[in-house]
Amino acid sequence: MATQPTSNRGTWNSKLGFILAAAGSAVGLGNIWKFPFEVADGGGASFVFIYLICCFALCFPVLVTEIAIGRKTQKNAVGAFTALGYKNWRFIGLLGILSGVLILSFYNVVAGWAFGYFIELLQGHFDIGGRFGAFIADWSTITLYSLIFMFLTALIISSGVSSGIERASKILMPSLLFMILGLAAYSLTLDHAMKGVEFYLIPDFSEVSLETVYNALGQAFFSLSLGMGALITYGSYLSKKDNIITSAALITLTDVGIAIIAGLLMFPLVAYLNNGDFTNVQGGPGLIFTVLPGVFESLSSPLGIIIGAGFFLLLSFAALTSTVSLLEVPVSYVIDEFHMGRKKAVIIMSTIIYLIGIPSLLSNGSSEYFSSFVTYIGSASPVSFMDVVEHLSSDTFLPFGGMMIVIFAAYIWKKENLSQELAIGNPKFIGSLNEKFIHFGIQYLSPIILGIIFLLTVANRFFGYNPFE
Ligand code: PHE
Repeated sequence: MATQPTSNRGTWNSKLGFILAAAGSAVGLGNIWKFPFEVADGGGASFVFIYLICCFALCFPVLVTEIAIGRKTQKNAVGAFTALGYKNWRFIGLLGILSGVLILSFYNVVAGWAFGYFIELLQGHFDIGGRFGAFIADWSTITLYSLIFMFLTALIISSGVSSGIERASKILMPSLLFMILGLAAYSLTLDHAMKGVEFYLIPDFSEVSLETVYNALGQAFFSLSLGMGALITYGSYLSKKDNIITSAALITLTDVGIAIIAGLLMFPLVAYLNNGDFTNVQGGPGLIFTVLPGVFESLSSPLGIIIGAGFFLLLSFAALTSTVSLLEVPVSYVIDEFHMGRKKAVIIMSTIIYLIGIPSLLSNGSSEYFSSFVTYIGSASPVSFMDVVEHLSSDTFLPFGGMMIVIFAAYIWKKENLSQELAIGNPKFIGSLNEKFIHFGIQYLSPIILGIIFLLTVANRFFGYNPFE
C-alpha cells in the first residue's frame, strides 16, 4: 500500500502478538531477580500490597498514554513528538533513548550472569552460589556470556517486528509461563514452604515506611518498562483496531502476575533452606545468585540440575524479551529518523551499547577503578560504575521521563486528543469511568508523585540527603 508511509516500519501480526511482546518487555530481571529481594528487604507482604497499588493506580495511566502516543503517530520515541507537532518536546524521546541505551548496557551484563548460571548448573556446578563474587569478577567469562546475550538480542531484532520480536515473544513467553508455574508448584511442596508463603503474603503494616512506598513505586515503574518510550515504540506497530485499555490491562496483569508467582517460587525455597526461619533473611541483589544454587544442590542430583538449570533458563528468557525491547527503542529511532536499514541499525546500536557496557562489566571486581568508581556527596563508601549507570538511568531518568510524558499528554497535546485515540477500538471510552480515571492520573496523580520521586532520588542518591531518616 503505497499510500501508507509507515507500512515498511513493520506491524504486529495480531493483538496477542503485541500483548506478548509488550508483556515480554515488562517481565524481566525486574520481576524475577529484583522483585523478590525488594520484597524481602521491604518487609514481605506489605511491600507486595503497595506495589500492586502503584502498578494499577499510578503506572497504568502512564502505560496507556505511551501506547496511545505510539499508535497515534506510528513513530519512534523521538519522532512521535515531532509527528504530533511539538518538536520542542523531542527531548523527552531523546532522554528516553539515552535511558534505554544506558539500561541495556548494564542489564545485558546481569542477563549474562543469568545465562552463565544456566550453563554452570547444566553441568551440575552447584558450588557456583558460593563463587558468585568470583564469577562476576571474572571478566573473560562474563564477556563471553554477555556477548552471546547481546548477539541473541540483536538476532531477534534484526528479523523485524513481526517475524523477529513477535515470533520470539510467542515462543519465549508461553515457555516462561510454563516454567515458572512448574517451578513454583514444585517449590510449594518443599518442607517449610508455607512459612515462606506466610512471610510473602500476610502483610505486617507496622513495617511500612515511606521508603517502602518509594521503593515499591520505583520497582513498579521499572518493571512496567515505563518512562523511556519502549511502549511508544511498541505502540507504534499497533493496528488502529485494537483496544488500548484492555491491552494495557492485560500487560499489567501479566507483569504483576509473573512477579507474584516469582515470589511464590522464591520464598518457599528460602524457607526450605533456612528451616522456616525468616529472621535473618537478607535480600539484596545476590539473593537469587548466592542462595538458590545451595537449594538446588540439596535436591537429589538429576532433579537439582533440572530445577536449577530450568530456573536460570527461565530468568534468561525473561531477560531476553526485555533486552529486545530495550534495543528496539534506539533501533527504531535510527531506522525512522536516519532512514537506515534495520540490519545496519541493529549492528551499529548493539555494538555501541555493548561497548558502553564494558565498564559496567568490569565494575564487579575485575577492575578496582570501575568497582569503586565514585563516592557521592554525603556518602561514606564508593559505588561502582554499574551502580552509577543504574542510579542515573533507571532510578532518575525513568521517573522524570514518565512525568514529562504524562504532563505532555495532559497539558500540551491535551487530554481530549488522548481520549480520541483511546476511543479507537473502544467506542464506549469517552465519558466512561475509565476515561475519568486516566485523566485524573495523567493530570494530577502520576505527575505529582513521579515528580516527588524524581526529586527525592536526586537529593538522596547524588547529594546525600536522606528524607527517610
Ligand atoms: N521491565 C523490564 C524488567 O522488569 C526492564 C525494562 C525497563 C525493559 C525499561 C524495558 C524498558 O526487567
